[in-house]
Amino acid sequence: MTARLLPGAPVADALLARVAGRVRVLAQVPRLALVRVGDDPASVSYVRSKDKKAREVGIDSEVHALPETTTQAELLALLARLNADPAVSGILVQLPLPAHIAEEPVLLAVDPAKDVDGFHPFNVAQMWAGHARLNPCTPAGILELLDFYGIPVAGQRAAVVGRSEIVGRPMAAMLLGRDATVTIAHSRTADLGAVTREADILVVAVGRPQFLTPDIVKPGATVIDVGINRIEVGGKGKIVGDVHPDVVQVAGGLTPVPGGVGLLTVAQLMANTVTAAELVQA
Ligand code: GUN
Repeated sequence: MTARLLPGAPVADALLARVAGRVRVLAQVPRLALVRVGDDPASVSYVRSKDKKAREVGIDSEVHALPETTTQAELLALLARLNADPAVSGILVQLPLPAHIAEEPVLLAVDPAKDVDGFHPFNVAQMWAGHARLNPCTPAGILELLDFYGIPVAGQRAAVVGRSEIVGRPMAAMLLGRDATVTIAHSRTADLGAVTREADILVVAVGRPQFLTPDIVKPGATVIDVGINRIEVGGKGKIVGDVHPDVVQVAGGLTPVPGGVGLLTVAQLMANTVTAAELVQA
């Protein structure tokens, strides 16, 4: 059996088309404030693509690129200004922050109603309670993908490998919210295969190249590869996921890397920005 490939592009296109339609009927153009501290190359590139995509769908965007030497107090002062600015619908602080800035007070300082990342503890609690309005973008994008390809979630066994605050934990909460039976596995799980072989839906977000091997995948399972790992092959850089390529021979569906889940995170951020704008207007 060869898995059906589940590319992210058509899902992102459909989501962005809906977002653009929602933008058009808003009384005020939504505005996304993107905050970055320092010059981490990955963060620079992520913020650039979020800024570009916002403009494409009719969302105003402002990038606050702060120097590496920015203090915690300066960052908090900027967030207070953005919270108070009625023109700003959504605020995103790109992570990771430099080591001298503590993350938790920063996440707490974003108005939960403008928290388009869904990282504020209020929104995290709402998500686990099953009624969040702003959900973290990568797991929300994965649910869009499952729905787009008609993959049922309710009543299915789901396993999430990885327990990060950005992907693993919120993914588990959101699958639970959609009535899946969810197990979270991680680096200390004693028998990973015993968990993953049970899963009809398997989401892998561990940040280790080609970590999930075909011997621990249930035949026919839907496998979602969240990994974006840069490896060297023959002296050349290559992007690979957390899922071994041979999984394609066992799984029923598989998201490619690149071209899979990565495209959905940014699309979902645009959806969250419009949701935040709609909440203010409502
Ligand atoms: N860094 C890696 N992923 C993310 C994300 O989804 N949001 C933010 N703000 N930073 C990130």
